[in-house]
Amino acid sequence: MKNKILELNHITKYIFNVSTGKPIRGTEIKILDDVHFDLYEGEVHALLGENGAGKSTLMKIIGGIIPYDEGSMTLNGKEVQFHNSREARARGIAFVHQELNLCTNIDVAHNFYLANEPTGKLGLMKEKEMYRKSAEAIRALGFELDTHTKLGKLSTAQQQIVEISKALSFDSKIIIMDEPTASLTRKEIDMLFSLIHDLKNRGISIIYISHRLDEIQQIGDRMTVMRDGCYIGTMERVNYSDEQAVNMMAGRITKNIFEKEHVPGEETVLEAKGLKIGEATEPLDFTVKRGEVVGLCGLVGAGRTELARTIYGERPDAGGEVWYEEALYQKRSPGLSIKKGIIYLSEDRKIDGLITAADVSENLVLSALHKLFPKGIIDRKRQKQEVQRLIEEFNIKCMDGGQIVSTLSGGNQQKVSLGKCFAVEPKVLILDEPTRGIDVNTKFEIYHLIDQAAKNGLSVLVISSEMAELIGMSDRIYIMRGGTITGMVSEKEEMTQENLVAKIIGV
Ligand SMILES: Nc1ncnc2c1ncn2[C@@H]1O[C@H](COP(=O)(O)OP(=O)(O)OP(=O)(O)O)[C@@H](O)[C@H]1O
Ligand SMILES: [Mg+2]
Repeated sequence: MKNKILELNHITKYIFNVSTGKPIRGTEIKILDDVHFDLYEGEVHALLGENGAGKSTLMKIIGGIIPYDEGSMTLNGKEVQFHNSREARARGIAFVHQELNLCTNIDVAHNFYLANEPTGKLGLMKEKEMYRKSAEAIRALGFELDTHTKLGKLSTAQQQIVEISKALSFDSKIIIMDEPTASLTRKEIDMLFSLIHDLKNRGISIIYISHRLDEIQQIGDRMTVMRDGCYIGTMERVNYSDEQAVNMMAGRITKNIFEKEHVPGEETVLEAKGLKIGEATEPLDFTVKRGEVVGLCGLVGAGRTELARTIYGERPDAGGEVWYEEALYQKRSPGLSIKKGIIYLSEDRKIDGLITAADVSENLVLSALHKLFPKGIIDRKRQKQEVQRLIEEFNIKCMDGGQIVSTLSGGNQQKVSLGKCFAVEPKVLILDEPTRGIDVNTKFEIYHLIDQAAKNGLSVLVISSEMAELIGMSDRIYIMRGGTITGMVSEKEEMTQENLVAKIIGV
């Protein structure tokens, strides 16, 4: 008989429409409505749902970050309502957040003990102990990290490891992982999965949120599906199929296939000639034609993002030329690129994508104001229409354009980033991991939008670690390794996952 350690019943959570000012009775909306969830000892319980379904909100309730308004939560058979995350942590609940919760300008050890530093008699921090113990905790997971390194110097995956080891150091019984793999590579995902297996064997329970159905298939023991703040159902792995899960999430039969309508033109829009992205790397060449979608694949560290940033003008090159619309494009800078019609969607929306303290409307038109109002006079009505169009086109789930971006779900923030790029009506769009954190159905809507834009003459250079996505969208795919381009595939028969993986690792 399996031991049920956590149970939530009839959980309801209200929020007030903040854009109407003060909380006024009657303006509240339910973001969770009569939700059920339970968790057994030593299981991996996956939580599925479209962007904005309420997954992170439910987890924040379990983790003590926000309170629930109605219903009950029992931990080991006793009713609990946490007032803060400290209380939840003291009861063995750890949270690895969707948006990582660490300080990048301090070192690993201090992050490990953030606001929980061990102190001696005079209240002095026991620094030595902090470095030693955090290093031990990380080593216990099979990783080696220098605990004196500033967190910002580590890869997202390594930061993830710090969060997880930190979570474990509190003697946690339940670990919540909210999209832990969104920025991990295949190899790192495998490491995380073997870690999850170990944890399970030690009787620790894991709540696992992901939009990658193959992962759920691989490690989930049970899955619960949510939709629009409601509980839809729970199934065992044996009864699980991707198709059924997607239908439960969307509430309708969906067909998710790549359909390409655009046909690339003949004219070259963007070209690199002997471009060097670093002093020690080989020069590279590539072209993007009008109305063409060109993929860029490679391992992490292969130089894909560096290449994108070099073209865009966010980092200097080490030689070579970039040509744009048949003219040499010198003295490149992001500002000039935007003016010329080249837009780059960064892989990290938090750093250089969005102003999260501003609302959806402001973010969406931020870069497009010149385009919309060339005379410099802002027409609010016109702006509102444009924002409404983008909200609908990109399926952004928000109360209205006045909702502050930081209160949107992770996937919906990503959609705002994408909408913002399209609003400018660029000629060249460079997309770095465009669908990170976006749910399965919306992804296909986005592929469709990109396809339609290409049909209208947009040229796209896309970086993605999701091979199926890259193959499905692209007309051609360049392969990068060691900071340069090592190959290209353009024939349909060559564009297979196996072939690309072989080329990426260089077999
Ligand atoms: N403070 C808030 N103010 C307004 N709306 C909020 C607030 N907190 C959450 N919401 C809304 O609640 C809904 C659920 O959000 P939540 O983050 O739980 O979704 P999610 O299932 O985690 O989605 P994703 O897959 O995109 O991460 C969203 O529509 C979000 O905008
Ligand atoms: Mg979320």
